[in-house]
Amino acid sequence: MAAVMDGDKLANIFRQATAAHQQQKFRDAQAGYTKILKWIPDHFDVLHLLGQSFIEEGRPSQAVRWLRQASAIQPDNADVCYDLGLAYRTTGQNALATRAYNRALEIEPDRLNAHLSLVEMKFPGEHYTAMLRQLHQLLKPATYLEIGVETGQSMALAQPETRCIGIDPEPCISSPLPPRCDIFPQTSDSFFEQSDVRSLLEQQNIEFAFIDGLHVFEAALRDFMHVEACAGQHSLVAIHDCIPLNTITSARERSTNFWSGDIWKLILCLKKYRPDLAIINVAAKPTGLGLVTNLDPTNRTLQTQYEQILREYIPMTYDAIASDERNALNIIANDMKPVTEWLREWRVQGAC
Ligand SMILES: C[S@@+](CC[C@H](N)C(=O)[O-])C[C@H]1O[C@@H](n2cnc3c(N)ncnc32)[C@H](O)[C@@H]1O
Repeated sequence: MAAVMDGDKLANIFRQATAAHQQQKFRDAQAGYTKILKWIPDHFDVLHLLGQSFIEEGRPSQAVRWLRQASAIQPDNADVCYDLGLAYRTTGQNALATRAYNRALEIEPDRLNAHLSLVEMKFPGEHYTAMLRQLHQLLKPATYLEIGVETGQSMALAQPETRCIGIDPEPCISSPLPPRCDIFPQTSDSFFEQSDVRSLLEQQNIEFAFIDGLHVFEAALRDFMHVEACAGQHSLVAIHDCIPLNTITSARERSTNFWSGDIWKLILCLKKYRPDLAIINVAAKPTGLGLVTNLDPTNRTLQTQYEQILREYIPMTYDAIASDERNALNIIANDMKPVTEWLREWRVQGAC
């Protein structure tokens, strides 16, 4: 007759193991969990906890084994899928990690830590603000216009000599702004309708612009059209959020905390309707930074084709480009060296 472990004894082992786990006595915890699994091999919580203990201890390969077993028992458990993703990622198995995180997101589409983990894998390297800082330092533009200022985090990266204009209907400035900066508390559409940009910039062009306002394609398109009309051929326009993470976070309607909207379509649209522009898209976290130059303030193509462009791009979803994203969106590495070469090739003002 098979021996039977007393229920109270098992409960006691479980209590001691979880207490050891909380105190980070991982080996003691693992010994307890393993003892329970000898009696109840498909104990979901114990398998999950054992996997977690190996992750926390820094032994992710061991974690994978137990988390896979837990996941087989409860395939719809998003916590286990996330932990499995973490274990795979820590062992450098990024394809498997992506699959596990995506499974967690199928179960729980607004799971922020899974989105952020995917961001870390898709965009290794620095945040877009590091690229913006380097661009300001290299170009030292005479003038800078930013659409979507929020706290002033990105505006604060401008050089002290640069004449800056910031536009945001709801600015909530908490960063120290550069000395020659004016903030216009209105939407970008109303700003461009009501303001004489060149006279605000002492009769100069916009040399450098950053578009980071309303996160829908047509608003970013209008922002680009307005900026280009006040720019020179060798000015530079940076556009935030031009590389989508996945379908749900790059949709027009926001349904997740992590969300970039459908600004990425602007790259496709400019490539098609304005092949004269020079465009690269830096893989900076969290969702890319598009850079556009070789501008032509006299070109009216986007204005005349505006309605046709909206009909073409508004219904599009990320699936249309997912398999060929790198080419479709002109993506390059998040590295200042190729960016500087590109800026010089196109003789961007201040780069040569
Ligand atoms: C993502 S935040 C900008 C973040 C900032 N550029 C940074 O990097 O720190 C987007 C901002 O765009 C502003 N915004 C929303 N609609 C806008 C519009 N129509 N015109 C200009 N700004 C807008 C919002 O108020 C918000 O502060």
